[in-house]
Amino acid sequence: MCGIVGYVGGRPCRDLLIAGLEKLEYRGYDSAGISLLSDGHIDSVRAVGNLANLRAAVGLADEDGDGGVAVAAPPATIGLAHTRWATHGRVTEENAHPHGDCQDRIQIVLNGIVENHAELRRQLEDEGHRFSSETDAEIVAHLIERHYEQDLTEAVRAAFGDLRGHYAFAAMHSDHPGTLVAARHECPLIVGLGDGETFIASAIPAFLRETRRVLLIENGEIVTVTADGAVIIDASGNALDPPRDIEEVTWDEEAAEKGGFPTFMLKEIHEQPDAVAETITDRLSGIDHVDLSELDLEPEFVRNLRRIVIVACGTSYHAGLIGRYAIEQWARIPVEMDIASEYRYREPVVGPDDLVIGITQSGETADTLAAMRLASERGARVMAVTNVMGSQATRDADTVLYTRAGLEMGVAATKTFTAQTAAMYLLGLWLAQSRDAWPQEQITAIIAELKGIPSKIATTIESVEERVRAIARSHQDRRFFLYLGRNIGLPVCLEGALKMKEISYIPTDAYAAGEMKHGPIALLDESTPVVCVATNSPILDKILSNVAEVRARGADVIAIATEGNDDVAEVADQTLHVPATDWVLQPILAVLPLQLLAYHVARLNGLNVDQPRNLAKTVTVE
Ligand code: F6R
Repeated sequence: MCGIVGYVGGRPCRDLLIAGLEKLEYRGYDSAGISLLSDGHIDSVRAVGNLANLRAAVGLADEDGDGGVAVAAPPATIGLAHTRWATHGRVTEENAHPHGDCQDRIQIVLNGIVENHAELRRQLEDEGHRFSSETDAEIVAHLIERHYEQDLTEAVRAAFGDLRGHYAFAAMHSDHPGTLVAARHECPLIVGLGDGETFIASAIPAFLRETRRVLLIENGEIVTVTADGAVIIDASGNALDPPRDIEEVTWDEEAAEKGGFPTFMLKEIHEQPDAVAETITDRLSGIDHVDLSELDLEPEFVRNLRRIVIVACGTSYHAGLIGRYAIEQWARIPVEMDIASEYRYREPVVGPDDLVIGITQSGETADTLAAMRLASERGARVMAVTNVMGSQATRDADTVLYTRAGLEMGVAATKTFTAQTAAMYLLGLWLAQSRDAWPQEQITAIIAELKGIPSKIATTIESVEERVRAIARSHQDRRFFLYLGRNIGLPVCLEGALKMKEISYIPTDAYAAGEMKHGPIALLDESTPVVCVATNSPILDKILSNVAEVRARGADVIAIATEGNDDVAEVADQTLHVPATDWVLQPILAVLPLQLLAYHVARLNGLNVDQPRNLAKTVTVE
């Protein structure tokens, strides 16, 4: 979830670029950098950590007088800046962007992932190019160098043609002091048109203070940016016909931070395709292999692992429950799941052959940290699954599996949940593969399915949102919702019910549907909406019988079903379909309508979904 900002115009741009990066901080990052071109010479400064560190590094370069970033005379009026969230290569100054070519005449910043980086790097090294970082991004600077024959746009276009993956990048060249060239394939890129100055960025907030006139760059396009405006061509070099319309952004700054959505929560619901893609893509770069080499676990420990214990709170606990199904199904390792605030006050039996996984998006939840520490004290190996680099969980754990959802502003966890779920799928497959616990054809098939999940998330949100809003309208005054599911649908129900109570303040209960007849069935009558997760699974017929029992008591059934399955719609009052996938992966899609249902019920009741009462984003008190 990196950020790009570029400027070309008449003003000194160092501070403008850093101010632009500040507006992109919400996406999350672990390092940052800036390159400025002045007097035919490019100076770059990079720093690990937050923008305060970059500012300090820029300041130091000032004092030394050799960084030139601040002292360049005349001050630079063209530059590129970037916030990086590490994917390929560790979090180091060398790996922070911008990246240069062999002669330091080209600098590039890139968001996303270049999938064929290994092959390209080998070719470029054979041709004599020297690399100074471990990143996939640096390849782009060398490709531009390879193709450069005085025409920067052409060189960028040719380099763009060599790449596979999903990315957007921007480049500058010391021979072209008034030009930036950028290209987009599946990662956002926007031009901001000012008066005698032009911006390029990965998101509008980066320049919204300066201009509201924008050009949206589409996939497969290359844009050449000068102080006078921008020229867009397609990947074959043809000018756009007709040219792209200039759009006027009407949001105020607060709305801009919300990407034009009315709330952070809705924005974050819509960011889930990205959050999951960022979490899985480079770890599934081949077709048949999960790469979690980042985990600090010796093969012998993994092979002899006796048991996994997952500890977490709230939504993270629900992601752990889904992870339990995936790990047990694929890797055949017994998994125990525990609520962190319970685990830490028991006398848990745990030891050196156990892996204890603490799932915590913030990495700071006091109970989860305490449970992890207790396990560690008893000799277990401890892994953190977290979204926040440098958080306490990352410091306490023996090894870390990062989700890459970007910063989540809404108190209710949405995109961090689907990213955690995706991370648990990766872990389940990796363990299966590392222990030869499951046939390779099956692993390959699930990997192919998992790669398709980000686009299925996008399709699901788009296709159900209007219907969910209508369903929410018809149920907004209900005093109680019951959620029923079985097997891997049960954690989805628990999560849906938590979201509903947390942001709409309507009481909910979530039950294993098989338990209904042991008491909760007494709750059912015409006034009770019952949300049933009835996506495809080996026990779908069982949940269908439960739905029939519920209907027989007059309750309204809202079912979540898999596309292509008409049996559910026959027994439910309202059915929301999600795309078909392997049944273990179905929860990551099934939860989306439930997030939206809770959201719309709360909004229709006029509630502040981003900041529900009595709740804080991170629970750090014991
Ligand atoms: C619910 C929610 C909480 C958190 C819980 C754990 O929407 O956000 O239930 O999931 O407080 O937080 P982390 O994952 O930061 O440990």
